[in-house]
Amino acid sequence: MNKLKFKNGDECDAIGLGTWKSEPGEVYQAVRDAIKIGYRHIDCAWIYQNEDEIGKAFQEAFKAGDVKREELWVTSKLWNSFHAPEDVEPALRETLDALQLDYLDLYLIHWPIAQKKDEIFPQTASGFFPITEMPVSATWKAMEACVDRGLVKHIGVSNFNIPKLKKLLKQSMIKPEMNQVESHPMLAQNDLFEFCRENDIHYTAYSPLGSRDRAASMKGADEPDLFVNPTLKRIANEHGVHPAQILIKWAEARGTAVIPKSVNPERLKQNLEAANIPLTDQNMNDIARLDMDYRFLNGKFWEREGGWYTADWLWNQ
Ligand code: A2P
Repeated sequence: MNKLKFKNGDECDAIGLGTWKSEPGEVYQAVRDAIKIGYRHIDCAWIYQNEDEIGKAFQEAFKAGDVKREELWVTSKLWNSFHAPEDVEPALRETLDALQLDYLDLYLIHWPIAQKKDEIFPQTASGFFPITEMPVSATWKAMEACVDRGLVKHIGVSNFNIPKLKKLLKQSMIKPEMNQVESHPMLAQNDLFEFCRENDIHYTAYSPLGSRDRAASMKGADEPDLFVNPTLKRIANEHGVHPAQILIKWAEARGTAVIPKSVNPERLKQNLEAANIPLTDQNMNDIARLDMDYRFLNGKFWEREGGWYTADWLWNQ
């Protein structure tokens, strides 16, 4: 399997485990199983509201000798309600407590969106700060301080487009080392990926399977289904695997990290084993033709009447 290489020599497995939508009650076992079969990269976030259970799974895995802390790459993310500089370290410490860890390998600003502290998912515009009032540069300074304090080894962002990355690069002492964004063959984001590469920013693909277990309220009317796409099905048949595995291998072969979510032991195994599929150049070229700038998570769920944040601002400005 490919590994992402960081400037300080750290490495991270390209295929990690996603934990968004992994419910309390099932995520403990999923993480235990994943570590046992060889996952070494686990992607978490405060907002997934399951970090306690993941922390228990880490503790048990360490105690059982399944893995050592230093062999594991753990990512988490700062929620939008904690962008005020004084809230960043306490939010990170809450995540560390829940995960029962002394440090994170990677901490990301989850969205370039700032919310009032008591609003986890505001229903009206008044629950948000305009980004001009709570600029990312101020939040980032507090993220840098967390690196200086040894609480986190690497810092980065999620859901940032090129203009927002350019701005942050100019305003940062410690450069962002990761941008985690939605990515799959229908949303290859080649320009963003290339920009990241040129600026030593790694790229993680989230929702690589199309995030089919999202709440209905977050789904479009006639979304495409990646698993029944004729090109992906044909290539999956050619290799005797499931289309999900082709999606994962494509991301890994491109040089990105990829974090498919599963809580099913068979599928966890399939997803890790995707690394071994010998995709051909012809397969890669055929998959490249599926790109159509299609977002399953289109960002419209941030739009409020009279509000500051729009999908157009997020992805295009
Ligand atoms: P489950 O957790 O029951 O395995 P994404 O990573 O894009 O958010 O997609 C996650 C969804 O894809 C979940 O519904 C998950 O179900 C499903 N999934 C994960 N791995 C596979 C696989 N190998 N084959 C089919 N479905 C999968």
